[in-house]
Amino acid sequence: MLQQCILTTYHVLALVLWVLASEDFDWMKNERTTFYYGTFPTGFSWGAGTSAYQTEGAWNVDGKGMSIWDIFSHKKGKISSNDTGDSSCEGYYKFKDDIGLMKDMKLNHYRFSISWPRILPSGLKSEHINEKGIKYYDDLISKLLDNKITPIVTLYHWDLPQVLQEKYGGWQNVTMVNYFNDFASLCFERFGNRVKHWVTFNNPWSIAVEGYETGEHAPGLMLKGTGAYKAAHHIIKAHAKVWHTYDTQWRRKQKGLVGISLTADWGEPVDITNQRDIEAAERHIQFHLGWFATPIFSGDYPQVMKDYIGRKSGQQGVGASRLPVFSPQEKSYIKGTCDFLGIGHFTTRYITQKNYPSGLEDSYFTDRDLAELVDPQWPDPGSEWLYSVPWGFRRLLNFVKTQYGNPMIYVTENGVSEKALCTDLCDDWRMQYFKDYINEMLKAIKDGVNVKGYTAWSLLDNFEWDEGYSERFGLYYVDFRSKNKPRYPKASVQYYKHIISINGFPSQREMESWKRKAIETCSSSNQLLMADSLIGHMETVTEIVVPTVCILCILLSAVFLMFLLHRRI
Ligand code: NOJ
Repeated sequence: MLQQCILTTYHVLALVLWVLASEDFDWMKNERTTFYYGTFPTGFSWGAGTSAYQTEGAWNVDGKGMSIWDIFSHKKGKISSNDTGDSSCEGYYKFKDDIGLMKDMKLNHYRFSISWPRILPSGLKSEHINEKGIKYYDDLISKLLDNKITPIVTLYHWDLPQVLQEKYGGWQNVTMVNYFNDFASLCFERFGNRVKHWVTFNNPWSIAVEGYETGEHAPGLMLKGTGAYKAAHHIIKAHAKVWHTYDTQWRRKQKGLVGISLTADWGEPVDITNQRDIEAAERHIQFHLGWFATPIFSGDYPQVMKDYIGRKSGQQGVGASRLPVFSPQEKSYIKGTCDFLGIGHFTTRYITQKNYPSGLEDSYFTDRDLAELVDPQWPDPGSEWLYSVPWGFRRLLNFVKTQYGNPMIYVTENGVSEKALCTDLCDDWRMQYFKDYINEMLKAIKDGVNVKGYTAWSLLDNFEWDEGYSERFGLYYVDFRSKNKPRYPKASVQYYKHIISINGFPSQREMESWKRKAIETCSSSNQLLMADSLIGHMETVTEIVVPTVCILCILLSAVFLMFLLHRRI
C-alpha cells in the first residue's frame, strides 16, 4: 500500500515537473551552450535517409521514364562539373548491401523516395504501369521489413516525369493534382500493406522556389514573383488530395499515417530587443515553413504573406495578389491534412529588416523585406549555405510546437556536408554536428515537443542536386570514381551507432571514448580507401589506357606499312 502510494506520488510529481518543463521554453533566454546528458523516450525511432534521384542511378533501364532531373542534369552548365545522377550510388543494384549497412547501425527506420517515372514512365497511371519498377520497390520494402527496419516513404522527392513537364508545365498546372493523386493511389495499392509512414512531398519550398523562381533546380524556370507561389499552391492542393484519398480509401485497412516533410532554417532576430528585427524574423519563417504548414494546419496562408505580397502586387499595378487564393471550400478541405509533420533542418540565419521598394525586380525574396546574415564564427565545413548552429534547432522545434498545436513530428532530414576535395573518413566535424544537433532535439523533447523519430541525412554520399558530387552529406563515403561505387564508413557511422545503442547521451567520459574509438577505426578505413582507389586507378589504366595505346600502335604501324608500300610502287 505504502509502496503504491509512493509510486503514485512519484508519478504525480513527475507529471507536474514535465508540464512545468513543457511551458518553460523562454524565447528571450539565449542559453545555447550547455550539453544535456540524458536519454530519449523509449521507442524513439532512429534512421537515415536518401532519395531516388540522388542515389538510385539506373536512370534509363528496366522501362523507367525520364524525370525532369534526368533532362536538367544532362544540359551543359546546370550542374557543378556537369555531373548527372545517371549512375550515382548505383543504389538500384546495391540496395541489399545498403540494408546491410543500416542493419549494422541498428537503424529503426530508413527514409527513401519512390521515383514516379520509374513506376509510371509517362507519369500517367492510365497509360502504363512499369512492373519492373514496382518490383524494385517491392523488393526493397520487403527486405527492409525482413531486417526489422521500418520504411518511411516519400512520394515526391523532386523527380517529376518529364512528360508532365513538357505537356502541362509541371507544377504550374493544376492538373498535376490529379496525376499525383493517381500515382500516390497506385503506391498505396501496391505497397500500403507494408508501408505505414507516407510523406507526400519533400521540401516543397525548394520545388517551388528553386524549380520555378530561381531556376537553379529542375525544371529550371525563372518565373520571378509568380512561379513559386503558383507551384506551391498546386503542391498544397495535391498534398491535401492525397491525404484525403488515403483517409477515405485506405486508412481503415492499412492503418498508416500520411504527412509532409517541410524544410526550414531557423531565423533569429539580429537584435532581440528591436521590434522590426523580431517581425522580420517572424516573416522569414512564415514565408518558408509557414507558407506550407499554415494552410495544412489552419487552412490558409499566413496573414503576413497575404499582407506583404498583396500590398506589393498592388504597388506594382498587378490587379490581384501574386499569391493565389484558396476558396472557402478549399480551405476546409486542406485544413488538418497531416497525421505527422516531417521536419528537415540544417542551419540558422540572423535576420534583420530590409526594405525592398516595389519595382521591376519583384520576387519571392524581395517580397519578404528582410536580409539574412551569418555569424562568421559559425563553423561551415561543407556547403556554402550550411553553418552549424545547433541551438537554432531547438528553437525551430519549439516554434512548430506552439504554432501548429504540438503535432507529431518526425525529423526527416538533418546533417552536414563536406567538400569533395578532402577524402577524409575521419569526419570529426560531422560527429560534433550530430552530437550537438541531436542534443538540442533532446532538449526540445524535454520542452514538450512531440518528436517521435530522427533521420540523419544522408545514409550515403550522393548526387547533391546542382552541386553534383562536390558536396558529400553521407555517413558512408562513396567512391564515385570506381565503377562499383564502393561504400566506406566515416567515423560518424560509429558515433551515430553509439547514440542509437544508448538511445541518447550517457556521460562526457563515455562520449569522449566513443570519439576516440571512432577516430582510431576511421584511420584504418582511410588507408583501405586509399589502397582501393589506387587499385581502381590501375584498373582504369589497364581497361582504358592500355587498349587505347594498342589501337594507336596498330594504326600507326598500318600507316607506316602503307607508306612503305606506296614508296616501293
Ligand atoms: C534537403 C533535400 O531534401 C535533400 O535532397 C538534400 O540533399 C539536402 N537538403 C541537403 O542539401
